[in-house]
Amino acid sequence: MADNKKLTTAEILALARQQNSGGGADADDASESSTAPETSQAPVPTEDKKPAAAPKSTADILAAARTQGGEAEKPKPATAPGSTADILAAARAQGGGAQGGGAPKPKPAATAPKSTADILAAARAGGGSAAKAAPAASQPKVKKAEAAPVGDRPALKDMVAAVKEAQASGGPAKPKLPVGKPAPAKPKFPSKKEKVERRKFVATLAVLLLTPFVVAWSSMSAIAAIWSLGIARFMMPNMMLELPSKFKVGPPSDFPPGSVSAKFKASRGIWIINTDEYEGQGIIYALASVCTHLGCTPNWLEGEQKFKCPCHGSGFYITGVNFEGPAPRPLERVGISIADDGMLEVDKSVKFQEELGQWSDSKSYEVA
Ligand code: FES
Repeated sequence: MADNKKLTTAEILALARQQNSGGGADADDASESSTAPETSQAPVPTEDKKPAAAPKSTADILAAARTQGGEAEKPKPATAPGSTADILAAARAQGGGAQGGGAPKPKPAATAPKSTADILAAARAGGGSAAKAAPAASQPKVKKAEAAPVGDRPALKDMVAAVKEAQASGGPAKPKLPVGKPAPAKPKFPSKKEKVERRKFVATLAVLLLTPFVVAWSSMSAIAAIWSLGIARFMMPNMMLELPSKFKVGPPSDFPPGSVSAKFKASRGIWIINTDEYEGQGIIYALASVCTHLGCTPNWLEGEQKFKCPCHGSGFYITGVNFEGPAPRPLERVGISIADDGMLEVDKSVKFQEELGQWSDSKSYEVA
């Protein structure tokens, strides 16, 4: 066929049937003319020119191919080829004969078609154009081992070479640790032997310290120490850190007649009074701010002109004489005098009691 159209399997089978049926020769079909020598080689009797019934199945076609191939070129084996390999070999031989027009081909056996696809390609070539391309078996095959590496992955032989090279150089290089801060030192825990020794030491120490002998001596030592401290304290004099009993309160002019000054009540515990209510004479004296009942500190009430004790309500006149409440006696005076510098000087170490007649003492007052 001059037509380069690719034959289908059905067409190939039809051609094979025609070929097997004696070549219902068509003068115009070049392919059939090319198959003519094959048919001429087959010892088909002339009286059997009548075309036999065309094989209809693939098995029939293969049987015809066996017969044709065996009779055309090869000596028929003792037993008919029964395997598919034999059938394919016969088909290959047939295809090769069809291409070359019946002439023996110098092609090496390696170029013969080996697969079913090759056989079909050869059949197409034989049934179609003789000038068609060579069968697929004759096309150069790509070696699988030489396939290009996939992606960036190195070839297998390269990896094997790299491994061998690393082994020859003493093994793969160890990964370098990152350079930075040194790792913190691990805490050192005591070993089992050290723990046992420590426990033995503690147990021995406890036994030694808890013996009756040690306990007794320890208790006696503690008691002796306490007694020693008590004796030392007894040997020391009792002292009170307080202000001196004598102190100056200022010039007499600071205390006008009929006044009660509480300026030194908080710091010194006295009132400075200038009055003439006691025996009609104007005098300046100092009263202790201590209630004669139970020792509380009375307050001077300017409006009522009296001293009033907040504890039990005792009341005292400006002169210090008690007149109400539980207080049993008048307030006490302290010593007062004019110092060399003209200042009033109070002496709290000296006290004067009215019920004892001591207020008549000149040291208990100063004439205003
Ligand atoms: Fe002042 Fe009792 S203490 S009245």
